[in-house]
Amino acid sequence: MSKTANSMWGGRFAVGPDAIMEAINASIGFDQRLARQDIAGSRAHAAMLAATGIITDKDAEAIGEGLLTVLSEIEAGAFAFSTALEDIHMNVEARLKELIGEPAGRLHTARSRNDQVATDFRLWVRDQCDAAEEALMDLMRALLGQAEAGADWVMPGFTHLQSAQPVTWGHHMMAYVEMAGRDLSRLRDARARMNESPLGAAALAGTSFPIDREMTAEALGFDRPMANSLDAVSARDFALEFLSVAAISGAHLSRLAEELVIWSSAQFRFVALSDRWSTGSSIMPQKRNPDAAELIRAKTGRLFGAAIALFTVMKGLPLAYSKDMQEDKEQVFDAAETWLLALRAMAGMVADMEARPEALRAAASSGFATATDLADWLVRELGLPFREAHHVTGAIVARAEALGSDLDALPLAEMQNVHGRIDETVYDVLSVEASVASRTSYGGTAPSEVRRQIAIWKERLA
Ligand code: ARG
Repeated sequence: MSKTANSMWGGRFAVGPDAIMEAINASIGFDQRLARQDIAGSRAHAAMLAATGIITDKDAEAIGEGLLTVLSEIEAGAFAFSTALEDIHMNVEARLKELIGEPAGRLHTARSRNDQVATDFRLWVRDQCDAAEEALMDLMRALLGQAEAGADWVMPGFTHLQSAQPVTWGHHMMAYVEMAGRDLSRLRDARARMNESPLGAAALAGTSFPIDREMTAEALGFDRPMANSLDAVSARDFALEFLSVAAISGAHLSRLAEELVIWSSAQFRFVALSDRWSTGSSIMPQKRNPDAAELIRAKTGRLFGAAIALFTVMKGLPLAYSKDMQEDKEQVFDAAETWLLALRAMAGMVADMEARPEALRAAASSGFATATDLADWLVRELGLPFREAHHVTGAIVARAEALGSDLDALPLAEMQNVHGRIDETVYDVLSVEASVASRTSYGGTAPSEVRRQIAIWKERLA
């Protein structure tokens, strides 16, 4: 059932591929996404071939024009992609040949699909970096908006999901701004590192034609050509970095998503998620489910999976190109789409959610969250060693618990029974407002400190 040999390399082949071979070999089903980058790369290459006298200006012009026609056919959805032509590179070139004839055959001079695909893919991932940068900054702006609105709303701060010390809503939101800020910085680093051009590395060894790699690099917006042709065709660490940044960001998004799921429950009621980001139940009329948050939490698994998959593809490959690398694309396509969707959904959910300051305050004042403030007071005012203050405070908390009282409502006499020198100025530190206001250390939860951090980030994002 063999067909005729391939028109691109058929010289050495007597018969065409088995149908299953064609199915496993073809990448056109997914790499057609690289059409725009492929055509930009080919146009830059053709212009360079003419500028260096390797092909004539006339041929380069025909190639450049023809490629634009191919692009417009693809963008109009009027292009018939062929599996027999394997991938986007050969589909484009074959169509170019139909359109302009003989000069099309000169385009592939001093080039290989190996440097071609490496170039296309870098350009594509670079675009995704730019889109993700925007999306990350939008998320940070949404978080900043929440932080600003509630810079002094008191809420419980947790460790082990046990009420630990009161913090401010603004402080909690700003923690995620810091995380997203590091993701942004990782993304920018990765983008800067990937912005070198593989084009002109040819199959693996470079070429004997007098090409100008600086020229094509510049035309495609790269900072410089990659310095080693073997590396240029076989490096995929730019994609691994992108996936790693996406995976780390996904871990952050998922933690926030988890908090939103908890906070929007009837047991917590810390936030009301907007109708725009919730769904109802077909059977339980009272339900408002935080589906977007749950899906962000779940989709993070795909981001991790994509990174692991590509690491696994790459780890055993000798230099230079191996066909294994064709398996790089689907992982990155899926991860980029998933990550951008998650970032945008989170930004929308955060921007539209309403925190409930009364519920936050009520939760903050239960659970003896100012016990540390009491211990610190015993150290500061009575000169107790911290370990002893800790012990005294523990006894006072036990007494308050037995009486069913919060610390700031516990009668002074009860405290004095535990330690005789406690006086009523202790109440100054037992309220949750006093507790957060006192934590003015750099990076602390005091509203004054949180506002200072908000101002810094607003300027960075302006
Ligand atoms: N479709 C291939 C890929 O995605 C293009 C490069 C093919 N190179 C080769 N020597 N067969 O990796």
